[in-house]
Amino acid sequence: MPPLKVLFVSPEVEPFIKVGGLADMVGSLPKALTALGHDVRIVMPAYGSLKRDSAWHARPDPLGVDVGTEAHWARTWENVLPGSKVPVYALEHEGFFGRPEVYAGPWGNFPDNDLRFTFLCRGALNLCLQLGWIPDVVHCHDWTTGLLPLLLNTTLRHTPLGQTASVFTIHNLEHQGYADRRVLSFAHIPPEEFRTDSTESVGAVNQMKAGLYHATKLTTVSPTYAEEIKTPAGGFGLDHVLRYRAADLLGIVNGIDTTAWNPAMDKYLPRPYNQRSVEAGKAVSKAALQARLDLDLDPHIALFGVVSRFASQKGLDLLAEALPHVLERMHVQFAILGAGDPGLEHVFRWAAEQYPGRVGMHVGYDNSLAHLIQAGSDLFVMPSRSEPCGLTQLYAMRYGTPPLVRSTGGLVDTVSQYVEGQPAGTGFRFNDATAPALYNTLGWACATYYDRPAEFHALRLRGMNQDFGWDVSARRYEELYQWAVDARRATPLP
Ligand code: ADP
Ligand code: GLC
Repeated sequence: MPPLKVLFVSPEVEPFIKVGGLADMVGSLPKALTALGHDVRIVMPAYGSLKRDSAWHARPDPLGVDVGTEAHWARTWENVLPGSKVPVYALEHEGFFGRPEVYAGPWGNFPDNDLRFTFLCRGALNLCLQLGWIPDVVHCHDWTTGLLPLLLNTTLRHTPLGQTASVFTIHNLEHQGYADRRVLSFAHIPPEEFRTDSTESVGAVNQMKAGLYHATKLTTVSPTYAEEIKTPAGGFGLDHVLRYRAADLLGIVNGIDTTAWNPAMDKYLPRPYNQRSVEAGKAVSKAALQARLDLDLDPHIALFGVVSRFASQKGLDLLAEALPHVLERMHVQFAILGAGDPGLEHVFRWAAEQYPGRVGMHVGYDNSLAHLIQAGSDLFVMPSRSEPCGLTQLYAMRYGTPPLVRSTGGLVDTVSQYVEGQPAGTGFRFNDATAPALYNTLGWACATYYDRPAEFHALRLRGMNQDFGWDVSARRYEELYQWAVDARRATPLP
């Protein structure tokens, strides 16, 4: 396959700025594509919280960004993805990106998010023109980049970028980026694009919908989620668009960064381990985790870990509801890390006070603790109501921590059901999004841990043996990019 020029445009990039798994994906897939010989570059915002250390260099020329009615200029910072040669450009603009947060401040989502991310989309494209580097494909990620394919199809169709194809990846259909129609004129997009088969939903601009209608090809991050979102139950009001574009929609399961998440080389663990040393290695991490979260120091108790955003998507309300019953009847501990919904933070705090030594929790974002929980827990709990792909269950399996998940989206595609008495499965799955179903499955996992230790050990090893790297999925993206390029070049100019 001839090498392609691919531009990633994303609101989050690990290790620079991360809210969730989108950052992990955008921080790792480009490395795998570069290894296949492609020229991949990334554009992101330079938020106020982006640490501009000596690895970043400011480009000498200011970047003009064609949005709104006045002149807007960005300063472009340049770096590479650590451990690679993938160029990363971060756009600095005090008004749009000076604040530290990505999407929301203490009072909720920023009211100018539509303008901020339009600036990102147009800034990324203007940067290509400034660099004289015209990508074959722009790979967009979630609603913040939804207007970009539309820009390529309209405003920029008769420029050097007019032949550039676009691939739009849905990481989470739940967040669609509704905006006032002012955003179209701000983006210099023709007003006639405010119609239901382009950008309009219930009287507003839906930026996700724009991406879904206008990208050359669409992907989402697992095959099962690709099916779910085409149904009214899983489509968040956009299932009809996804059915309309079904022939162009592909589910490709995410890989993981196997260097950052490798128990044999993990700098956050007191004693890194591999399959041969898993029992001893995990025991040391378990003790460290118990100490760090004020849990009773007990090497034998079943310890369940949670690392998650506290959002309704993640189903942690089910865990909150089941927790008192579980703690009354099962000999278990919980190590919980997360932040978000204040109600959930409150319930888990309450549980930690009510059951000292049995529930340990930390509210906030803490990557080193996330690693320690993956290593030090015996089981990993992820009762998601919906889950486009999910990465934490992959990290858990790689760390020898069988996941307990609800059968939805990418969790179906990545965790196979343990079958008692047989050498099968990598975790525990349940179907109903109810607290009793979760309770029963926690009980089943607990019984397996205590009563069938040999089977539990084999379950651990099967998870550790899986290959979660990017090799297979990067090849699928490569193939999809080529299809997108062919389709774009075959589309006549209007
Ligand atoms: P989502 O993107 O929906 O949040 P994923 O499982 O795809 O779910 O990715 C979540 C990522 O965010 C993982 O890398 C996980 O380790 C990380 N993460 C989530 N919550 C926290 C937290 N409180 N502290 C540190 N890392 C977190
Ligand atoms: C989203 C999804 C998650 C997925 C991640 C990376 O945040 O919620 O399931 O793993 O994107 O694609």
